[in-house]
Amino acid sequence: MGNDYEPTIIAFCCNRCSYASADSAGTARIQYPSNIHIIRAMCSGMVHPNFVMDALTSGYADGVLICGCHIGDCHYQDGNKTAENRAEAIGLLLEDFGLEEERFRLEWVSASEGPKFAKIAEEMTKTLRELGPSPYRSG
Ligand code: FES
Repeated sequence: MGNDYEPTIIAFCCNRCSYASADSAGTARIQYPSNIHIIRAMCSGMVHPNFVMDALTSGYADGVLICGCHIGDCHYQDGNKTAENRAEAIGLLLEDFGLEEERFRLEWVSASEGPKFAKIAEEMTKTLRELGPSPYRSG
């Protein structure tokens, strides 16, 4: 692996809370790595595991992050609980596809938690730099 490797991370952020947290981090000039490519989702529960696996196996992403509202705060009642259940399925799929579990992360981030979003982005970028590129990217 060359020293110039930089991971690409797709972050599905729910519209009401997590997307706003990324936005508030930017507005407050809190730096986070440009490795994070944000896709706005209506709710974390609407991010199907196929989206995650497609991103990871299509050769585009080295990691996928889903961010949603804290449990109890979902604007679609319990969408984030659906996301939590799906995260378990995603864990199994990662194993099936020979991918490390660190390539996927599910986090709860409210609109006022810009610093938390930035910290998660930093941590995940660091972890993926250490892991190296996804095997699906090498071809
Ligand atoms: Fe944020 Fe459902 S609207 S997790």
